[in-house]
Formats: sequence, structure tokens, C-alpha cells
Amino acid sequence: MSKKTFYVSTPIYYPSGKLHIGHAYTTTLADILKRYKKEMGYETFFLTGSDEHGQKIEQKAEESKVSPQEYVDEMVLGFKELWRLLDISNDKFIRTTDSYHVETVKKIFTEIYKKGFIYPSIYEGKYCKSCEEFLTKEQMNEKGEHLVCLKEATNFKEETYMLKVSNFVNYLNEIFETNFLEPENRKKEMLNNFVNNNLEDLSITRISFTWGIPINENPKHIVYVWLDALTNYITALGYMQKDDNLFKKFWSKDTEIVQLVGKEITRFHSIYWPIILKTLDLRMPDKLLSHGWILSNNNKMSKSIGNVVDPIELIKKYSSDALRFYIANDLPMNRDGSFTEELFVESFNTNLANNFGNLISRVSQMIIKYFDGLLKATDIENHALVKEGIKTIESYQKLMNQYNISEATSKIIKLGQECNKFIEDSKPWVLAKENKIDELNNVLTILQRNILIISYLLKPILVKKYSQMIEQMGVDEEQVTFDNLLKNKIKYNKITNKLVLFERIK
Ligand code: ME8
Ligand code: MG
Repeated sequence: MSKKTFYVSTPIYYPSGKLHIGHAYTTTLADILKRYKKEMGYETFFLTGSDEHGQKIEQKAEESKVSPQEYVDEMVLGFKELWRLLDISNDKFIRTTDSYHVETVKKIFTEIYKKGFIYPSIYEGKYCKSCEEFLTKEQMNEKGEHLVCLKEATNFKEETYMLKVSNFVNYLNEIFETNFLEPENRKKEMLNNFVNNNLEDLSITRISFTWGIPINENPKHIVYVWLDALTNYITALGYMQKDDNLFKKFWSKDTEIVQLVGKEITRFHSIYWPIILKTLDLRMPDKLLSHGWILSNNNKMSKSIGNVVDPIELIKKYSSDALRFYIANDLPMNRDGSFTEELFVESFNTNLANNFGNLISRVSQMIIKYFDGLLKATDIENHALVKEGIKTIESYQKLMNQYNISEATSKIIKLGQECNKFIEDSKPWVLAKENKIDELNNVLTILQRNILIISYLLKPILVKKYSQMIEQMGVDEEQVTFDNLLKNKIKYNKITNKLVLFERIK
């Protein structure tokens, strides 16, 4: 039997600046997967949150002349507002300053320490403060800057506790044999650059600043922000806490666990995170989806570079559905993509206005005009375009089950195009003029059935417009399920609306 619980997470973002399209990207993809799984009958849990400790946040607070806690409290309000405006349906928002998280991180540290995987030492190396990451020489350019953010790496030498990462090289090679990490080329990169390239133990406590979680064993040490952050995926579920029902359910072997991250933090999620889980005797996630970057002026769009686009402005100008659709359709996970408002508007007009919008309004208007809003019952199940619609459901599901949202979306677009073409070819207005009522009724029935399919497949993406799309076809929402669509068990009511769903952007 296939798994029927689904747990999806995004990275927890640093509140070191306002979130931009890059963060909206990951969170929207996760939201779409969750909503899709829900339609497939899964019990779902979707986690996002904020990563609030560390040196960078401490510095930001200092610059703003407020305490770190005040600083993050303020920033997190902005995160939550963005997710609300973008219709993000997360089941929980974790903050690493939440007391349950703080207490659990201490317990986790103690547990790993007791098991003998942590030892005191002095660590010396290169550190990128902006990314809170120890760097190997391959991660820097000749000027000593971190390749990801182009910030100068600093020298680091500190008394610290180390995690015995080097013990796990064989284990890592084993798990990299499975296909938990996608895409494939990222797997090779991790193996060649890190796992099998002198993998060093990891410094996991700091003493030179205080904004973090002190360890019980030696409270002048605070936990390295990445160890603190990675554990969020289980502390949020109640791991090592009194009420751990969510943990038992959503970290069980029967749950499909999917984690989304940007490619720059793949190292943490594919190497250190599996090791942490291993030391705690916990299962691995099923899938780590490591997506590409949204570029702006050919650089990674980033808070620290400052070349960002504000998603809230886009949502206010064009709607959350428009942004969600662009993310789903135009920015495939397996490569970097550019964001410009021009490309965004072009995609909106081509797909939402001219393809889907136009189709729905033409068909609903003809049903109203020629049949007073209600078609006569007829059997069109053997028509090629109906079969195409059914096939589209199947290939969409297959692609979504592989988390390939952009390809799945392109299947819906294709069905829309075929429906529009079918209107041009069958010319319903000629059929009406020639009084071929049965034929006209068939044509419109075929189109109505396919529009319902198109709308339903877009439901995880177009969460605001979906209801109107369904209503425009004269159908009650609760009727529309995969099962009812496949078995053609939908009851149509009289259509009276004349809504314009996606007005062209001029
Ligand atoms: O790394 N393109 O937080 P962060 C695509 N706190 N995705 C982007 C992006 C871009 N230009 N910019 C950001 C951290 N993202 C840590 C994570 S998790 C235990 C701790 C997205 O605020 C993408 O998901 O720097 C990326 O990995 C994440 O935001 C980084 O957010
Ligand atoms: Mg970052």
C-alpha cells in the first residue's frame, strides 16, 4: 500500500532582511505539493519558519540598535504577512527562538554527546558569516570570497565542540546510492566536493558571541546555528517533547517526507542533516529537492547582495494566483531562472488570460447563449478530446508524484490549447446558425468536461480563482475530485455567471 501521510518542509529563512521572490519560490512549491497531496487523499503536514539565531542576526540587531529578540520579532511579522498574502497553507510556523525548540536542541546536543559523536577541540578554518558556513578552498575564489555570496571569508579559530562527521563517510556514500537527492548532478557535486574530498569533522558550538542556544554541558558554548536550524524539522513535530503525536505520525516510516531547499544549502541538508538523524537513530527523509536559483541581473537574488524583487508588491499589483502560477510554470526546479516583470506579464497573458481565461469565458458564454446555461445529458466519453483530458489527469498525477510541478503544469496548458483549437475547428457558432443542436450540445459538453479537468488540476496553484472557475462551469466545489472526474460523475447546474477570470495585463 502506498503511503498516505505526507510531510513537506521549506528551509527556515533568516530574518536578516525582508523575504524576496526566492523565498516565495520555495515556499510556494512546497505549498503546491501539499495541496496536491491533499487532493490525493493524504493527511498532510507543511512546515516553514524562521532561523533566528547566529552571528549575522546578532549583528543586524546591533546595527538597528535593538535587542536580537526585538529585531527578530519584528522581522518575523513580515514573513507571516507574506505567507498570508501568498495563500501559503503551512500547518505550523517554527521560530528557532520558540522555547520548545530551544529546550529540545539542548536535549538533542546532550543525546548526541552521550552517544560519543561529539568531542571538545579547537577548530581553525575559513568562515562565511553571511552564510554562517565553514568553507573549503573549493568554495572560495582567488580573492578568498565565498562563491555563493561573494562576501570575504574570515579566519576562524575557536575552542569548540566537534561533531564526528568523518566517521560517516561510508554511511553517506550508501545513502547517496539511493535517489534521495535530486537533481542527479547535485548528487555528484556533493560526493566529489565534500563527501569524498577529505570530509572534516564539523565545529558545532561557538564562544565568541552569545545569540544562540547554550549547551547544558558547558554554557559558555552556544550551538552552531546550522545544528540549531536543521533540527527544526523534528522539533516542530514535538520530537523529545511531552506531546510527540505529530512526530510519531509524520516522522514515521510510513510517511512520505519531502524537503525543499535552494542548491546553496544542499551540503547541510544532504550531508550534515542525515548524519544528525543517524546519530539519533531516526529515519531519513524520502526526498531532498534541491532547486536552482532565481537570478536577478545574472546573480543569485539575495538579501545580502540586495538585488531583490519584493513579492508583496507583485501580489498587490497582479494577485497571489498570478505569482503562484508563474512560480509553478515558468521556473523549473532543475535549473536557474530569471525573474523580470516583463517575463511575468508575458506568461500571465499567454497562459492565464489568453489560454485558460479565454477558454472558460467563451465556453460558458456559449452555454448560456445557446442552451440557457444548461446542456442536455449526452455521452461524449469516447471523443478524442475527452480521452485526452483523462490522459492529462494521468500524466499530471505521474509528474506531480515525482514533484515535477512545472512539467505537470505544462500538461494542463497543453490541454487548454487543444480545447481552444477544438473551438476553432468545430466552430460552434456555425453549428448554432445551422441549427445542429445535438452536435453543438456535444461540442460544448466536451469542452465543459475538459475545463473542469483543467480547473481542478490548477487547484493547488490558483487557490483564489479556483472556486470561480468551477462555478463558471456550473458545478459545486465538493463534487470535484479526481475520482468523480475520472468516472464522469459530475452534476452540472445552470450557469448564470459571466465572470471575467483573468483580465489581460496591458
Ligand atoms: O539559508 N532563488 O536561510 P536564507 C531561489 N536559514 N531560492 C532562493 C533564492 C533565490 N535567489 N534566495 C533564497 C538559510 N532562496 C538558512 C536555512 S534550513 C534548516 C536553514 C530560498 O534566508 C531557497 O530555498 O538564506 C534558499 O535555500 C533559502 O531561501 C535560503 O534562505
Ligand atoms: Mg542565504
